[in-house]
Formats: sequence, C-alpha cells, structure tokens
Amino acid sequence: MNAKQLVGEKAVDYIKDGMVVGLGTGSTVYWTIQKLGQLVKEGLSIKGIPTSVRTEELAKELGIPLTDFASVDRIDVTIDGADEIDSELNLIKGGGGALLREKIVAAASAQLIIVADESKLVKQLGQFPLPVEVIPFGWENTMKKIAEFGCQPRLRLVDDKPDITDNGNYILDCKFDKITKPEQLNKELNTIPGVVENGLFPNIANMFLIGKKDGKVNVI
Ligand code: 5RP
Repeated sequence: MNAKQLVGEKAVDYIKDGMVVGLGTGSTVYWTIQKLGQLVKEGLSIKGIPTSVRTEELAKELGIPLTDFASVDRIDVTIDGADEIDSELNLIKGGGGALLREKIVAAASAQLIIVADESKLVKQLGQFPLPVEVIPFGWENTMKKIAEFGCQPRLRLVDDKPDITDNGNYILDCKFDKITKPEQLNKELNTIPGVVENGLFPNIANMFLIGKKDGKVNVI
C-alpha cells in the first residue's frame, strides 16, 4: 500500500457516527473518501460537505450522503491533503485547484486533519508555486500586483486555455524563492482587488497524518 493510501484510509479512524465531514480534494483524500464510502455501505451515518465538484461526484458515486451550508452551520471534521507542510505546520494547498472551497470548509470545521505523504514536508514553504485564485476580469493587472510581492506568477492552463476553477475563476501559480512569513503574505495577498483567495493555510490544521516510505504513519 502506498503512503497516500495508508494515511488516506487511516484518517477515517477519526470519523464517528453522526458527524458532518468536510471532504477534501486530491489523490490522498481520494482514499479517505473511498474508505468512507465502504463504511457508509456498512452502516456509518455521516453527511459530507465536498470541497470540489470532483469530490462531490466521487462521494455521490460511492453513496456518501451530502449536505451544504444551508443545512448545517458547523463541520465536525474535515480531512484534506496538502502540497507543502513547513516545520511550523503552515500549508500550501490548491495544487488541485480547489483552494477556495477548501479554505471555506476548513474555516468552518471544528477539526482539520491533513493527510499527506512525507514528500510534502519542507523546511520552508515556497518550492511549490503558491496557487492564487483570481477573478478573470483584469487578471493581467491582478497578476502584476501579485508579482510585486516578489514572485513569478503564471496563469494555470489546460490545453492552452485558462484552467477554470469550480467557482468560474482563474488560478495563478506563483513561484516564490521562499515564503518566510506565510501568515502575513496570506493576509496581504487577499487585499489585492481581483484576488479571491490564496493557497496559504497558516497554522490552521489540528492534526497531521504523514505517511512514510517504511509503511508507518506519523501523527503530528
Ligand atoms: C487540492 C489540494 C490538494 O489537497 C493538494 O493538491 C494535495 O493533493 P494530493 O493529495 O493529490 O497530493 O489542495 O486543491
């Protein structure tokens, strides 16, 4: 079993009957959702709030009952992946383009559990280009403003066309040399008109399940 599957499946140990569960996006949490689907078939009663259309479709396929913010005002536990985790437990997320819904769901969750293989652990954030979701109108100008923060932003493309998020926006992947003050950068980027959200999640996760090559799971 690979490390992503190992931690993805392990995370369901923290899900109890009756919980509202935030369902993250990505290839690690894929295994969590598969396992939850199996447990639901065996009688586990939960309601999921998906963080992307992709996750919503997968959850529906597996028969996991879903809910939304019109029906609940709090999520008990969210399980999600990460692209980078630094030594102070700040994250970069959004490699899969779902950062906006992921951040909304994380902020509404009593507990955020991050599942990742050990390749995601870094000393300092910034090797992975920071995804920033922007409104299509005026994106070129928004990109210039973002570049003033000392990065090289690039419009995310699919088949030579802008990749459109689930919210109808674009993503700029912003390569920094290193991100020394994630909390400050998170706040400042979001003040630029045209920026909807960025992929920095400064110190908001409660627990990390890190899958190691030797088949062990580190719980942080
Ligand atoms: C999607 C994300 C994912 O959680 C992140 O990209 C990690 O993905 P994976 O588990 O496939 O490595 O933030 O927007």
